[in-house]
Parts: sequence; C-alpha cells; structure tokens
Amino acid sequence: MGIHIFSQKFKFSLCATIELLLFCSVLGGNNETDRLALLEFKSKISDPLGVLSSWNSSFHFCQWYGIKCEEHQQRVTVLHLSSQRLEGSISPHLGNITFLQELSLRNNRLSGEIPPQIGNLNNATNT
Ligand SMILES: *[C@@H]1O[C@H](CO)[C@@H](O)[C@H](O)[C@H]1NC(C)=O
Ligand SMILES: *[C@@H]1O[C@H](CO)[C@@H](O)[C@H](O)[C@H]1NC(C)=O
Ligand SMILES: *[C@@H]1O[C@H](CO)[C@@H](O)[C@H](O)[C@H]1NC(C)=O
Ligand SMILES: *[C@@H]1O[C@H](CO)[C@@H](O)[C@H](O)[C@H]1NC(C)=O
Repeated sequence: MGIHIFSQKFKFSLCATIELLLFCSVLGGNNETDRLALLEFKSKISDPLGVLSSWNSSFHFCQWYGIKCEEHQQRVTVLHLSSQRLEGSISPHLGNITFLQELSLRNNRLSGEIPPQIGNLNNATNT
C-alpha cells in the first residue's frame, strides 16, 4: 500500500515532466482507463440535477462537468462534484484514475468507500 501511494505521485511527476509515455501507460493505464472509470462511476449513481448529462460521447471526457485534465496526456487530475445531490455508491473503478489529485464528492448521498488506490488525495470524504 505504501508503495502504491508513493508510486502514484512518482508516476505523475515523471510522466508529466519526462513524458516516458510507454512506461507511464504500462504503470498507470491510459486515457481510455480514465474514460471507462468515469463512466462506471456515473453508472452507479443517480443524478436528479442532470449534472452528469454532459458525460457522454459528444464531448471528450476532459470537457465533462466537474473534470479537469492534465494537458499533455489528457489524464484526469480533478473530479469536483460536491453538493450535486448525487445518490448511489462510489464505484471502485474510481481507483483506476491514476493521476487524480483532487477529488471532492462532499455533500451528496454517496455510499461506499473511496478506493484505497487513491489514498494520497487530500480529504476527499463524502457525507
Ligand atoms: C487517447 O490516447 C491515444 C494515444 O495517445 C490518442 O490517440 C487518443 O486520441 C486519446 N483518446 C482520447 C479520448 O483522448
Ligand atoms: C450529450 O450531452 C449534451 C448536453 O447534455 C447533449 O446536448 C447531447 O445531445 C448529448 N449527446 C449524446 C450522444 O447523448
Ligand atoms: C479498474 O478497476 C476495477 C475495479 O477496481 C477493476 O476490476 C478493473 O480491472 C480495473 N482496470 C481497468 C483497466 O478498468
Ligand atoms: C476529513 O474530513 C472529515 C470531516 O471534515 C474529518 O472527520 C476527517 O477526519 C478528515 N480526514 C482526514 C484524513 O483529514
């Protein structure tokens, strides 16, 4: 576990600066991994306000509501969906978003655990 948490920060800085693309995609998945993880996340929750309606094939996932990406490799670094009346469970697939640095799901009705893979995030608790 310690190694995992360490390696995530390591991967991010290494991939962002040196762009060892093959190395990074082997270690940390690729942009398709992120897209699938977000769609899995969406599939497990209900969204009465429709904030996730832009999460579809018309837009690149970096343009989806609440998402910010790292520019070079188009990997998700921020997921902000606090206070959106989301209900349901948090998909373990979220743990596949290797480059995630900020996650806020506060003030929704989400249950389940934030996957331990992304344990180096700052306080990302939901309520
Ligand atoms: C994902 O990355 C591949 C390889 O870098 C690129 O060809 C493709 O357009 C990217 N797809 C998305 C949805 O960003
Ligand atoms: C994607 O969402 C946008 C905004 O909600 C909508 O206008 C568009 O028709 C949707 N596209 C698909 C393929 O569902
Ligand atoms: C993503 O996460 C899920 C659940 O933790 C796992 O089953 C799956 O194999 C992972 N990898 C990809 C590439 O989706
Ligand atoms: C995160 O925030 C919650 C509520 O504000 C708090 O109870 C918890 O201890 C915090 N966790 C960490 C790791 O800071």
